[in-house]
Amino acid sequence: MALRELGPGETGVLDAVFAGMSAHSRYLRFHGATPRMTGAVRRKLAAVDGRRHLAVASFAPDGAPIGIARLIWLGLRDVELAIEVVDAWQGRGVGRRLLTAVAARGRAEGYSRLVADVLAENVGVRVLLVSVLPILTIETSGHEVTLTADLRPAAPLAAVA
Ligand SMILES: CC(C)(COP(=O)(O)OP(=O)(O)OC[C@H]1O[C@@H](n2cnc3c(N)ncnc32)[C@H](O)[C@@H]1OP(=O)(O)O)[C@@H](O)C(=O)NCCC(=O)NCCS
Repeated sequence: MALRELGPGETGVLDAVFAGMSAHSRYLRFHGATPRMTGAVRRKLAAVDGRRHLAVASFAPDGAPIGIARLIWLGLRDVELAIEVVDAWQGRGVGRRLLTAVAARGRAEGYSRLVADVLAENVGVRVLLVSVLPILTIETSGHEVTLTADLRPAAPLAAVA
């Protein structure tokens, strides 16, 4: 499995990952039935700039794209997470590696908080977030849960003592 940051306009990677997601995975990712990506959504997702919109993709040994994690600037030092893994590769550690990598990129850009709006029923992404990053707050509003995680580097143990 290989990881690399996406550059602008890599629509082939977006399309391959979207094609590998079931209707249920697309529903969890886009918070509603999403049989296809509209042109506007596709353009927005491809418009990475390495600063205010970062994306990291994962590839199978045969080179096929299998997952994407992205951070989009929300203002101040906050970024919003979106993450997806094709169904055939879910539960095999791809999401964990993607989240760890994109969080490191966000940290390197100086962001301090990662915000994730997830459907309340989406246990998988919540387990993933809690196991990878320190969670600061969890707020529920209707069917959505907003988790805010700390992206700042952990304090050295000597400073804590
Ligand atoms: C959520 C998602 C990105 C997780 O990716 P993944 O590659 O399947 O996750 P991993 O295999 O790296 O698992 C990471 C951790 O989450 C846990 N996890 C993953 N899916 C889970 C599920 N459905 N229920 C419970 N725990 C789950 C794993 O057990 C693992 O924890 P562990 O290492 O302590 O055992 C993936 O399932 C997905 O794309 N879902 C559809 C789209 C979506 O929901 N996106 C998030 C909204 S933006």
